[in-house]
Amino acid sequence: MHPLQCILQTQRWGPLASVSWLLLRTCRACSSVPSTACPSVEKQQEDGVRKDFSSRLASGPTFQHFLRGTSAPQEKPDMEDPPPYLTVDELLGKQRKVYLETYGCQMNVNDTEIAWSVLQKSGYLRTRNLQEADVILLVTCSIREKAEQTIWNRLHQLKALKTKRLRSRVPLRIGILGCMAERLKEEILNREKMVDILAGPDAYRDLPRLLAVADSGQQAANVLLSLDETYADVMPVQTSPSATSAFVSIMRGCDNMCSYCIVPFTRGRERSRPVASILEEVRKLSEQGLKEVTLLGQNVNSFRDSSEVQFNNAVSTNLSRGFSTNYKPKQGGLRFAHLLDQVSRVDPEMRIRFTSPHPKDFPDEVLQLIDERDNICKQIHLPAQSGSSRVLEAMRRGYSREAYMELIHHIRESIPGVSLSSDFIAGFCGETEEDHLQTVSLLREVQYNMGFLFAYSMRQKTRAYHRLKDDVPEEVKSRRLEELITVFREEATKANMASVGCTQLVLVEGHSKRSASDLCGRNDGNLKVIFPDVEMEDVNNSEVRVRAQPGDYVLVKITSTSSQTLKGHVLCRTTLKDSSAYC
Ligand code: 5AD
Ligand code: SF4
Repeated sequence: MHPLQCILQTQRWGPLASVSWLLLRTCRACSSVPSTACPSVEKQQEDGVRKDFSSRLASGPTFQHFLRGTSAPQEKPDMEDPPPYLTVDELLGKQRKVYLETYGCQMNVNDTEIAWSVLQKSGYLRTRNLQEADVILLVTCSIREKAEQTIWNRLHQLKALKTKRLRSRVPLRIGILGCMAERLKEEILNREKMVDILAGPDAYRDLPRLLAVADSGQQAANVLLSLDETYADVMPVQTSPSATSAFVSIMRGCDNMCSYCIVPFTRGRERSRPVASILEEVRKLSEQGLKEVTLLGQNVNSFRDSSEVQFNNAVSTNLSRGFSTNYKPKQGGLRFAHLLDQVSRVDPEMRIRFTSPHPKDFPDEVLQLIDERDNICKQIHLPAQSGSSRVLEAMRRGYSREAYMELIHHIRESIPGVSLSSDFIAGFCGETEEDHLQTVSLLREVQYNMGFLFAYSMRQKTRAYHRLKDDVPEEVKSRRLEELITVFREEATKANMASVGCTQLVLVEGHSKRSASDLCGRNDGNLKVIFPDVEMEDVNNSEVRVRAQPGDYVLVKITSTSSQTLKGHVLCRTTLKDSSAYC
């Protein structure tokens, strides 16, 4: 048997066919296969446990045991029903302390909460102090090369910590979670022998088992991608609790296969969480007094709850005009407009946002709803990626510059005063100076309020990696990126200038980081608003003067702006329903 005992699975879903792994590695010290006892140890006391484990492992898991997560719904590990080679006791955390570190996007912040929720149930404790951790888990990102390099650097720092703990009674375990685990799989275990466990984005329920296997001196990994895992029943534990807002994951994965993007390979197929479970979470957050919910997903507006037979009619999907998909048209299911409608009805005082959408999924019913409903923020992220139709085609975005611009006009007509943001990539394969100037002109034409701009980073496995040439020199990418950032800032400053003199509804978050005498909050467009912390009138009780608290809505008269922030003075405390004071 190869020392790397692994089960390879090929998921059969057409263009996304990818290989998923679930593997158990041998002891690093002696390279023995799991069916033999391991003599060399980090810790003498573990010997007995390990021998016992090894013999149980030999008679334990079969090939069939590891075969899950393909077409049938995934079997969820159950604390009362451990795998045959582990006891319930071994799955328990026994108050060991876990330190979680998050990199990358908001989905990863949410995933950290899910991973922690699973471990907490298993008897682990949480620590914010790296030095006292028994388990360190890094929730990683693979979207660009730089994101991965940050993790490799971090692992080198953690090496010293692990070596120091080698002789301790409780050894330190290190785990890589998320996209990097999924993308690199056993390459991480080979490159960094100090990594004990790998868990891909769909394997967080398996963390107690993976850590139990690691306790026996074996490296363990579960990087299976699932077709149905949404962690719908795992209530995330807020890692950085905020008095005002929370993120609620509504879908996972992406079917779009933009040619530059690694996400479909690291996070797998698109799947949506059932509406009922989303509403339950939003209700709970409203009962806790939260005032803002951001619906979260890689492709949030492609939401499609097909969990009940009666949802699955033959109604085909309306796309934005002039947009197409890289996949076969889908039918039926409860769509994003339905979800948005339901979520916004839970609590009229709760602001609703969503991120990150794809421009193709903005049918009129979604735009109308955003316009009509007071508590759905008039803010849309519309990732353009490029202003050149030629580059957009190479990126396989499914639209031209013209179709994108038509959508922008349509959105601005449908939702007056809407705030727009976008993502752009500088220096994609084959991008000429003329293409770049097209992006510059799109930035000028649209005048976004917010922007996220990146230099192109070639990722293995993607279509661009296989079919295109990463032929824009790094210094040209950097120069173009700088130019895009400058133009974006100039235009955003102009766009924000239009707010000067207006009265805006601001949800207070707390004191400004720069000055304790100022408060900071967000307007409907999600821009930061800073204003002095002074007493004010309460519109519902004119007899008292109040100071605004986190979670309060206040009206602020805007007096000055920059490309990122607005400043003003506060007029009164109010409610979302009572305020219609936009200009
Ligand atoms: N290189 C640079 N930027 C990328 N993005 C996605 N993949 C890459 C890549 N390979 C950007 C896109 C996307 C955002 C989340 O990250 O702009 O919208
Ligand atoms: Fe990546 Fe495109 Fe999917 Fe966004 S829509 S996650 S850019 S493949």
